[in-house]
Amino acid sequence: MAYAAFRSIGAYIPPKIMTNADFEKIIDTSDEWITKRTGIKERRISEENEASSDLGAKAAQVAIDRAEINKEDIDLVICATVTPDYLCMPSTACLIASKLGLPPVQAFDVSAACTGFVYATSIAKAFIESGMKKNVLIIGAETYSSILDYTDRGTCFIFGDGAGAAIVSASDNKDEAIIDVNCSSDGNHEDLIKTAGGGSKHPCSQEVLDNKLACIKMKGNETFKLAVRTLTSDVQIMMEKHNITPDDVTHFIPHQANLRIITAVGKALGFSEDKTVITIDKYGNTSAASIPMAMNYAYEQGRIKAGDTVLFDAFGGGLTWGSALFPFSPKK
Ligand code: UT7
Repeated sequence: MAYAAFRSIGAYIPPKIMTNADFEKIIDTSDEWITKRTGIKERRISEENEASSDLGAKAAQVAIDRAEINKEDIDLVICATVTPDYLCMPSTACLIASKLGLPPVQAFDVSAACTGFVYATSIAKAFIESGMKKNVLIIGAETYSSILDYTDRGTCFIFGDGAGAAIVSASDNKDEAIIDVNCSSDGNHEDLIKTAGGGSKHPCSQEVLDNKLACIKMKGNETFKLAVRTLTSDVQIMMEKHNITPDDVTHFIPHQANLRIITAVGKALGFSEDKTVITIDKYGNTSAASIPMAMNYAYEQGRIKAGDTVLFDAFGGGLTWGSALFPFSPKK
């Protein structure tokens, strides 16, 4: 049986910074309030001519280089995004494959909002373990600035742009294997985080434009409570299933939605601050890109090393949630 090994991590951080002070100029808010309620100090914004595939391709190139893999050997590309270049087609994964210069390859997008990268990890694992694919490029790429209503003071300051990527490859060494990925959803909470317009339910119309229905709307406070509860129980289930404790995990990488959520979940689960990767202050919430961007940050800081046990924990619109447990297994 083939095992799925998490070989590399990479990211692309757009250089343009939008600070809390910039938001003070456009909505009724303050740096003090945003910092206290979310932990966010600044977030990155893509250039006007940059779409998710541009960010994703740059992150993917880093992941490919670090995995020391030939592009011709990549046999599946999965892009997790809810801000695709185009609403329906082509998929952002197809565009990324083309921008990277890959030969014809199976490529598709995954729509699971902030849990997207964990969903992509589960799909990569399944394809490899079934023997269907050998080297899977997974990407989380988002340009939330394209779906934000910059007059919505309850939501617009939270999100940012960016991309992260990884190579997951077949290995015959069980010690390198992704241990488990557990994903789930509950569509009953569809209204908590939603872009209501522009799809088949409310096709693009003057009404959709006038009411900014193609922009994200979030019921922040209700989402907050469910996020804390779900992110906590998600990891509890994973740890109980594998009979592990926080001592067995080297790096806890939660979705970066709000520092208060991260702190509450980390405390409930018993993860010390030095085990928890935090980037929300720098990048804000980058949805499907948040976990790989955070992992890449810790990797570039020299914190994540070969053999370290990593635990992802994500939650987002859908609602969706998921966790992944694996040893980081870069090619020696
Ligand atoms: O990534 C996917 C999952 N997403 C999440 O997990 C997001 C979870 N939610 C959150 O992070 C928080 O709910 C927010 C940061 C979005 C909001 O924080 P909150 O503490 O839940 O604020 P709230 O909506 O309960 O509003 C509290 C007060 C209100 O004023 P009153 O009614 O108490 O006088 C708001 O009008 O804060 C006010 N407020 C603001 N004040 C300054 C709302 N937005 C702002 C703002 N600046 N930008």
